[in-house]
Amino acid sequence: MEQDRSSQSRPPHVLVFPLPIQGHINSMIKLAELLAIAGFKLTFLNSHHNHERLVKFNNIAAHFERYSGFQFKTITDGLPLDHPRSGNWFLDMFEDTMEPKMKESLREVLVNSSPPVDCIIGDGFLGFALDVAKELGIPIIFFRTSSPCCFWVYYSIPDIIQAGELPINGSEDIDRLITTVPGMETYLRCRDLPTFCRKLDIEDSIIKLVVKQTRKSLQADALILNTAEELDGPILSQIRTKCPRVYAVGPLHAQLNTRLNAKHGESYDHISNTLWEVDKSCIFWLNKQPNRSVIYVSFGSITSTSREQLLELWYGLLNSKTKFLLVVRPNSVIGKDGEGEDVVMELMEKSKDRGYIVNWAPQEAVLNHPAIGGFFTHNGWNSTLESVVAGVPMICWPQFADQHVNCRVVSEVWKIGLDMKDVCDSKIVEKMVNDVMVDRKEEFAKSASEIAKEKIKMVQWRPIHLKRSRAETRARR
Ligand code: UDX
Repeated sequence: MEQDRSSQSRPPHVLVFPLPIQGHINSMIKLAELLAIAGFKLTFLNSHHNHERLVKFNNIAAHFERYSGFQFKTITDGLPLDHPRSGNWFLDMFEDTMEPKMKESLREVLVNSSPPVDCIIGDGFLGFALDVAKELGIPIIFFRTSSPCCFWVYYSIPDIIQAGELPINGSEDIDRLITTVPGMETYLRCRDLPTFCRKLDIEDSIIKLVVKQTRKSLQADALILNTAEELDGPILSQIRTKCPRVYAVGPLHAQLNTRLNAKHGESYDHISNTLWEVDKSCIFWLNKQPNRSVIYVSFGSITSTSREQLLELWYGLLNSKTKFLLVVRPNSVIGKDGEGEDVVMELMEKSKDRGYIVNWAPQEAVLNHPAIGGFFTHNGWNSTLESVVAGVPMICWPQFADQHVNCRVVSEVWKIGLDMKDVCDSKIVEKMVNDVMVDRKEEFAKSASEIAKEKIKMVQWRPIHLKRSRAETRARR
């Protein structure tokens, strides 16, 4: 994307507005930085809570001051600052708590902005941004941080229901093929739908919320997706039948790295934009391990595990023939009275010869480390793309949102991983780790490296022209 300077003397002012959670901030801040590199004036609208953490754990002031037109602004996410915001909190609180307060704050920022905002790039989950943009006559592009294949499944849910393919009738029905999502008829099973589709009540409020936000995404002036044409072409074609202006501009982390490395050299130390303190000691541990000998295990920024699940995973890893690097985020193990934290301490002690455990890793650096041979992941879209770009095969243990669909695509369409959906058993963990890391190592390494080489091409960003009507322009003056 390049700016169009013909119509005004100052650079266009773009406001980027993510859903206030790590997986969404990560890709949207990268998009914002890419636009700043291209010369746009940028406002990144963060929540107070997340901005505090971003400043605490990253040197963002030094990093972003190189872009003269880049600024952060903060608004409330509707919750008190000391709220733990753990698990899928935003889904439960979205409509009653977050939406009204964030909508009002967004409006205030836009009305008081100087120079005025010329275009909003809003998180596609924040459909209310479209109402505010229309009211103020500002063009809006939605950006979906989740995968195109999942976006397409979300969009198709009403058709799936209408065709009588939902609800799912018990466990015998779970492997039935879903035939009403165009382009996915041959591989999408009930099991691969987002988990909220497993509810018997198809009038469920979360299903309705997700469908509403997805359909609204297509009413914006354009839609941006974090993928490459070569990777998701067939599904992008399907989405374009509903919205012609769909732009595949990713993988954004790779786009940004390519540009920053070209400018500052290959050894440039990239900022991680994380909301937790990064433990870089794991890189020193990896430095001592042979090539492709370690499996990296991490389940993103929201997923929690029970104490029992963590133990099953850990025993599976311990009994496999492979060393492991495991991320256990603070407060992510659910147990009574601090049981969760105790078990992590115990595992750290007992893992010393076989693995390394950290609270939060520099994930991109880890995935690109020569010692890494596989990624045991929940298939969040950022993690999936980071693994694809690094050419690392996956073991997929999806938990919610887009992760079940992503897992199916990784294992069945791209064939660069194994599907461990709905299972958490140490014997299966052991078998899958041995498959990816030892017994079928060359097969998986070959397919993952082929996808990385053939499908990930750095796109040339072209201008997107969004025309505003004369009435809208007058209204803004
Ligand atoms: C959420 C959803 O779960 C995901 O499905 C959706 O596509 C985006 O929002 P999250 O669960 O956190 O995100 O997963 P993911 O998309 O993988 O994002 C996690 C990010 O945190 C990745 O960019 C990863 O590099 C980073 N990370 C994770 C670290 O930097 N260090 C860690 O130790 C773990």
